[in-house]
Amino acid sequence: MKSTKIINFDIKGDERGSLAAIEQLKDIPFEIKRVYYIFDTQENFVRGKHAHTQLEQVLICVSGNCKVKLDNGKEQEIIELKGRNQGLFIGIMIWREMYDFSKDCVLLVLASEYYDEKEYIRDYNEFLKEVK
Ligand code: TYD
Repeated sequence: MKSTKIINFDIKGDERGSLAAIEQLKDIPFEIKRVYYIFDTQENFVRGKHAHTQLEQVLICVSGNCKVKLDNGKEQEIIELKGRNQGLFIGIMIWREMYDFSKDCVLLVLASEYYDEKEYIRDYNEFLKEVK
């Protein structure tokens, strides 16, 4: 889907285990202003349910797995996030829902902007109107 893409990170591995390093403007296409992570998500809850007018993000499941439903107002796509080497880039004006979190899921989010509730669209009908 346009404005979204899977980014594969290089994993450095040796007999001790694995390491992933992520550098802004190299591994991800923006400067990172904010990092947050979602964990201990309770069963059957859906998170997200919004789009952003300004913000770009990369989502990485650093533990466990979850699903992300992406919606650009015309088409929908479901991505399963499980690989430690895998980031999901989501550009502006994409409705996203995160669900089916495993108990051990830690979803790390790298964001291009500081938190600003004003740039959220949390109403799906409003999103459909704006995205046209
Ligand atoms: P919310 O947007 O509901 O999370 P999700 O997108 O995963 O469904 O955010 C939950 C709460 O956390 C809400 O009160 C806003 C707050 N919050 C911050 O204070 N800073 C942040 O960077 C984020 C993402 C959320």
